[in-house]
Amino acid sequence: MNTDRFIIVSPGDLENYLDLASNIAEASWPEFMLHDPIANENWHELFDRFGDYQFAIFDTEANRMAAMGNSIPFHWDNEVADLPEGGWDWVFLKAVEDNKKGISPNIQSAIQVAIHPDYQNQGFSSRMVHTMRSIGESKGFKNLVAPVRPNQKKEYPLISIDDYITWPNDDGLPFDAWLRVHARLGAKIIKPCHQAMTIRGTCADWESWTGLKFLQSGRYVIPGALNPMDMAVENNEGVYIEPNVWMVHTL
Ligand SMILES: CC(C)(COP(=O)(O)OP(=O)(O)OC[C@H]1O[C@@H](n2cnc3c(N)ncnc32)[C@H](O)[C@@H]1OP(=O)(O)O)[C@@H](O)C(=O)NCCC(=O)NCCS
Repeated sequence: MNTDRFIIVSPGDLENYLDLASNIAEASWPEFMLHDPIANENWHELFDRFGDYQFAIFDTEANRMAAMGNSIPFHWDNEVADLPEGGWDWVFLKAVEDNKKGISPNIQSAIQVAIHPDYQNQGFSSRMVHTMRSIGESKGFKNLVAPVRPNQKKEYPLISIDDYITWPNDDGLPFDAWLRVHARLGAKIIKPCHQAMTIRGTCADWESWTGLKFLQSGRYVIPGALNPMDMAVENNEGVYIEPNVWMVHTL
């Protein structure tokens, strides 16, 4: 990667930062992932309260954003092993509530690394995690935790997350590419968080998000989802509960 061409920027560096960032989210996530209510109601808090923890890689030649990174600080006096099942949704709300109550943070959590598909598979992801770690270090935190979304689990939606995260590759590192990026940078797997994100929608919502038809109740394998989605046609509601994996980086 040419580091002169690709520079790290902060929200204050670009007037249209939020627009550029939302283009990356739309391009890199399956549609249903853009309908987590906790994310949608609270996303602005990242920039209103935690601007120092947001960053992006900007391609100065193409004049566009290649990747974005989001993290948040929160307060946690217990062991990292005690982090809850609620994962991503939980930590986002915890950080916002701590900040509203004036509680000083003592730990950082990753919220997202998203690389625009045009820039994926070019080694950007470790630079993103490095940058996130340096932010935590500059704040004096000892740990960066992350409710990590294993990016290849979508190919194995019927395998439990507990089993999936034990799969090794030939080098003894995690089989999953995104877990492996964290592991190579020294992070350790803590445990799965089975209810990291909960996404609900009507039959019509899910049909528009996925292009599938839901003519009877049951469990459905959804493209891009890490677990099946449960559709109850009689209630006109489909619920997807996403499992992630808590990992910890020692800073
Ligand atoms: C997950 C993501 C951050 C990885 O970034 P990337 O730029 O694609 O990956 P990199 O080029 O840095 O490579 C990282 C590792 O992933 C592997 N990899 C990259 N693309 C892959 C693919 N499509 N399938 C399998 N492995 C892949 C690379 O080989 C590398 O592993 P290795 O170092 O052991 O060889 C990126 O694909 C992405 O933004 N995806 C959409 C959003 C997302 O899932 N974010 C993560 C959860 S917050």
